[in-house]
Amino acid sequence: MDRIRITGGHKLEGIIPISGAKNAALPLMIASILTPETLTLKNVPNLADVNMLARILRNHGVDLTIEGKRAGGKGHLGETFHLTAREIVDTTAPYELVSRMRASFWVLGPLVARCRQARVSMPGGCAIGTRPVDLHLQGLKQLGAEIDIDGGYVVAKAPKGLKGARIIFPKVSVGATHQILMAAVLAKGETVIENAAREPEIADVARCLVAMGAKIEGVGTSTLRIQGVDRLEGARHAVLPDRIETGTFAMAVAAAGGNVMLQGAQIEDLESAMNVLADCGATVKPTPDGIQITRNGNGIGPVSVETQPFPGFPTDLQAQLMALMTRADGTSTIRETIFENRFMHVQELVRLGADIHMQGDIATVRGVKRLTGAPVMATDLRASVSLVIGGLMAEGETMINRVYHLDRGFERLEEKLSRCGAQIERITG
Ligand code: EPZ
Repeated sequence: MDRIRITGGHKLEGIIPISGAKNAALPLMIASILTPETLTLKNVPNLADVNMLARILRNHGVDLTIEGKRAGGKGHLGETFHLTAREIVDTTAPYELVSRMRASFWVLGPLVARCRQARVSMPGGCAIGTRPVDLHLQGLKQLGAEIDIDGGYVVAKAPKGLKGARIIFPKVSVGATHQILMAAVLAKGETVIENAAREPEIADVARCLVAMGAKIEGVGTSTLRIQGVDRLEGARHAVLPDRIETGTFAMAVAAAGGNVMLQGAQIEDLESAMNVLADCGATVKPTPDGIQITRNGNGIGPVSVETQPFPGFPTDLQAQLMALMTRADGTSTIRETIFENRFMHVQELVRLGADIHMQGDIATVRGVKRLTGAPVMATDLRASVSLVIGGLMAEGETMINRVYHLDRGFERLEEKLSRCGAQIERITG
């Protein structure tokens, strides 16, 4: 199993190209189920989760070809996928595949919308929280699907097709918004989704659906109004830049010190996180090329932050912010309001010398003068990368085990950091 070795204490200087967003690429790939024509996606990141979803989609009959495999030196342009679901050959998404990647559960809505039936495994347990799918199922029922749970599978049927409805989510959910949006575009009549998630990845998917011929109003707002159409067409769409990768590298620069251009990053997608970084003493400057992030000389100021759905501070940057705050000049509080168990990085950061106390969903982080390198264990995607940030700040060597979690969501992480002067390397095998 691969490991990552970091020797801390080096500033970061240079350019980091930001890849396409994992959490947009996944639903965009799923949207290919909705049309028999070819959906071309540009700027798709090369990640384990993308490859896993490709396997799942091929199982349904989606033909995927990848144009001009990346051979280095292409900056942040990513790969181009051509996805064609001329015929859906199998409407079952099996447990063996869905249990390995939760987002694959989102094939349910598009499959029922196009084929009037689907059998998709319930996703099962997850390291960061219980993560139920009740909102997805409730929404599909409101669109007229009959839903049964049989042998761990959701069996959905809509023999006469889905029908538009007014769906008011009692809670903001990214996944349920994707799911219902992708189902509603082919439902008969009008669907209104209220309290929809407003994450930039949802707007990106909506823009792609519109390019495919869908009729959607309110893109980027919490009310989406969809007029169903009979059929969608092929389209070309570029995946938006990954705001979580952007925020992660911005925090790495704030942690290690230095000056880095996050090439291709869009500040409007992560203003709350950038405001927090500015509050703690980093300089954040949007430029036509991306975001320039600098911290030279001054210390790291403590902050008080709670995670919230977009446009609030993202839960997917909570672990990284906590790593940064371990070296702040003072005490920070970080409250996680989205997932109940997203604190597995805490004990690993403590192994590096951090002073963190948990009470319920609040972490109190007392900044320490120094961290020292240690062997640590990656537990989930964002927790893993918080240990990379910890390692960059720590004196001596940090060895991160189980880095396959990182490969799910960060493309060429060690290459991007080492080009900016970090002492970081992957040890394979
Ligand atoms: C998406 O997960 C992201 N995944 C997550 O990123 C991200 O952390 C999360 O949104 C929140 O921003 C992808 O985009 C692939 P939710 P999702 O439905 O859709 C509860 C990463 O590291 N809920 O918005 O699963 C749920 O338990 C990942 O890249 C219900 O109660 O998140 C949670 O408390 C991890 N019932 C809250 O809503 C439901 O039916 C928000 O979850 C659905 C969700």
